[in-house]
Amino acid sequence: MIKKFLMTPGPTQIPPQVLLAMARPIIHHRTGEYSQLFARVNDNLKYVFQTKNEVLSFASSGTGGMESAVANLCSPGDRVLVAAAGKFGERWRDLAAAYGLDCRYLEYDYGRLVDPDDISRSLEADPGIKAVFVTHSETSTGVVNDMKAIGAAVAGNAAVLVCDSISGMGSAEIRTDAWGVDVVVAGSQKALMIPPGMAFVSVSSKAWALAEQSTSPKFYFDWLKARKGLSQPQPTTAFTPAVSLVVGLDAALSLIREEGLENLFARHIILGRACRAAIKALGLELFSPDDDRSSSVTAIRIPDGIEDGKLRGLTRDKFGVQLAGGQGPVKGKIFRIGHCGYYNYTDIIVAITALELALKELGQPVELGSGIGAAEKVFAESLA
Ligand SMILES: Cc1ncc(COP(=O)(O)O)c(C=O)c1O
Repeated sequence: MIKKFLMTPGPTQIPPQVLLAMARPIIHHRTGEYSQLFARVNDNLKYVFQTKNEVLSFASSGTGGMESAVANLCSPGDRVLVAAAGKFGERWRDLAAAYGLDCRYLEYDYGRLVDPDDISRSLEADPGIKAVFVTHSETSTGVVNDMKAIGAAVAGNAAVLVCDSISGMGSAEIRTDAWGVDVVVAGSQKALMIPPGMAFVSVSSKAWALAEQSTSPKFYFDWLKARKGLSQPQPTTAFTPAVSLVVGLDAALSLIREEGLENLFARHIILGRACRAAIKALGLELFSPDDDRSSSVTAIRIPDGIEDGKLRGLTRDKFGVQLAGGQGPVKGKIFRIGHCGYYNYTDIIVAITALELALKELGQPVELGSGIGAAEKVFAESLA
């Protein structure tokens, strides 16, 4: 028997409480019962986003939330700035192109951080820039950008700051209001612990002012329609919501509330730290920085002589542990262990055990137990 164990940065494992909630008979979305649930979910989303702004929800994958930001904030020909250091940062550039925007592009190598000073300089040089698009947790590299510093770089400029925190929200801290992030996009299938299929977008008053003027084509993703739904005495969505996912989200958010944001971020920091300690003890090289900010996903260089497909194929097919591969220029060069969401200390041990055994089988000179020992030490220290 193979027991399947998902250790990817989305989709992620789902708590049994959430699975059970989603298995309940479906309710109708134009009812008081649904509105009550939806209102509670919206309040709890604001808690996780650390914002007083409205958080809009859409039945789409995370990219839909990103597209909604581009379509609602901008009009064709608008000048925008994209700062990208990986596959998901590039998505902002591609969306800007799809909507006919005039895009200034700050590009960094995969694995690098976005430099807030470059953003300051770009805004100073071109005050006509309307929006700055960045990625919080760059899932393709394991790098988490310093959103506080990026927020400070954009503050005082006319531009709005838009952040993709699809894999960051709920695992790497982002203080939406305190750090001046006008628009934050999150996705359901990462640290929010429900299946794929929903996107969430928080919108500041500065961003609403742009949305009211935008002439880009939009229909389903029209933020004004979404806002109207939320402002009803019985809050709702403009179109049929993903009812069962919202029911699951209600259960997931109450688990987050129970844990508390402080404990939740502390847990993710320890998960990342343990993962990195294990990787180093195994003699492998980290690709993501050896830095506590990298709390959502750990990226690792594939050792010379080892084939990505064989390594991850073994961990999956022989030991049940699904890891993620590299993307873009680092495809085949790195693999990734996701630990955002419903993960605990022992989950890291399971992943590292599979990795050690697979590496050994492929002839890599690893000492069995060295990785899990190093991870255990991190856990023991954190519990002391
Ligand atoms: C940082 C980031 N941005 C965007 C996306 C795209 O989200 P989706 O695949 O849900 O559209 C992902 C998904 O992995 C992501 O991690």
